[in-house]
Amino acid sequence: MLTVNKTLGVLCRLPKWQIHGFLRSFTFRPGKQFLHKLVLGIETSCDDTAAAVVDETGSILGEAIHSQTEVHLKTGGIIPSVAQQLHRENIEQIVKKTLCASGVTPNELSAVATTVKPGLALSLGVGLEYSLQLVNQYKKPFIPIHHMEAHALTIRITNKVDFPFLVLLVSGGHCLLAIVQGISDFLLLGKSLDMAPGDLLDKVARRLSLIKHPAYSTMSGGKAIEHLAKQGNRLHFDFQHPLHYCRNCNFSFSGLQTAVDKIITQKEKEEGVEKGHILSCAADIAAAVQHTVASHIAKRTHRAILFCQQRGFLTPSNAILVVSGGVASNLYIRRTLEIVTRATNCVLLCPPVKLCTDNGIMIAWNGVERLRAGLGILYNTEGLRYEPKNHRI
Ligand code: KG4
Ligand code: ZN
Repeated sequence: MLTVNKTLGVLCRLPKWQIHGFLRSFTFRPGKQFLHKLVLGIETSCDDTAAAVVDETGSILGEAIHSQTEVHLKTGGIIPSVAQQLHRENIEQIVKKTLCASGVTPNELSAVATTVKPGLALSLGVGLEYSLQLVNQYKKPFIPIHHMEAHALTIRITNKVDFPFLVLLVSGGHCLLAIVQGISDFLLLGKSLDMAPGDLLDKVARRLSLIKHPAYSTMSGGKAIEHLAKQGNRLHFDFQHPLHYCRNCNFSFSGLQTAVDKIITQKEKEEGVEKGHILSCAADIAAAVQHTVASHIAKRTHRAILFCQQRGFLTPSNAILVVSGGVASNLYIRRTLEIVTRATNCVLLCPPVKLCTDNGIMIAWNGVERLRAGLGILYNTEGLRYEPKNHRI
């Protein structure tokens, strides 16, 4: 961080042409004592078109998001070409809105950071194409962002969390446990062998036809299940806990999906309810599924914590479990994980709910982290491609 005085000292020693370049990389915010670098973050990896401007202290200057959830709920899932079209229709206005809310012009940015992996190819392509146009027009450095790394480091906006720490990432596309050793240094401990918990919850919500329920019709599947579960009794259904015989930190949710599907079909027959109508026991099913997911995630995380403690990855001074990703906004799952962290003398940290689901702030912040560390900053973007598949974490 540079104070005004320090900056003036530096400027006096620079030739005039360098002073202009130097000043362009900083922004002076009236009323603030410090000069901060600013990063524009752009996220289009799945079904949210999001952007934000964040400064190097973690202050959010402005943000905007366009969610496609309602459209995809109606079609019964994300259709990649529809997602691409909606990103195309919205990206320009979302970025403009963000810059306007931030009071920042593109020239005042220090860099543009954009998700390039992993995600839906057609969605990633829109964000990357737009970003490259922007950085080429304004001659700005570009920072390619890994979506899951951004979820993992979001916590460092709101809390002082030093490396290493243990992270659990639970979203619509991923489920993994990793030790975060640095900004781009992740040691994978376990991952889902089939589907992600968010995907399972979305499918269960769809199978329960929650879109027909006025209170839940616009919510993501996971959020709808969380809300409906509050009115249910989880003890009315008993689902088998996945991988209880496996001595590792991997996850599995597809067996649970099959079991839930079977129960719903059976109940539809018993109640004489046609597929596509809401069962009287929908809340009980939601509660039981949510509980099984929470307890499976908690058991694998418990294993990972014990492993980390035994191997010295987590010491009493940095025994931190960070949980992030869309499913981490689920308060029942958070409370279940709290039981584990309390029993193992760990601290559980989750970003605010709004920062758990996809957003532009986490991408901009990852850009800030990389900019400060001088990691992965591109001045030439020729040949740069997005990578839909997850190769690293
Ligand atoms: O991180 P995210 O916004 O996008 C991905 O990167 O996948 O996560 C979206 C997922 C969806 O599957 C959604 O149903 C789930 O997060 N989700 C929730 C909740 N809110 C969103 N799952 C459980 N409880 C919630 N409250
Ligand atoms: Zn995500």
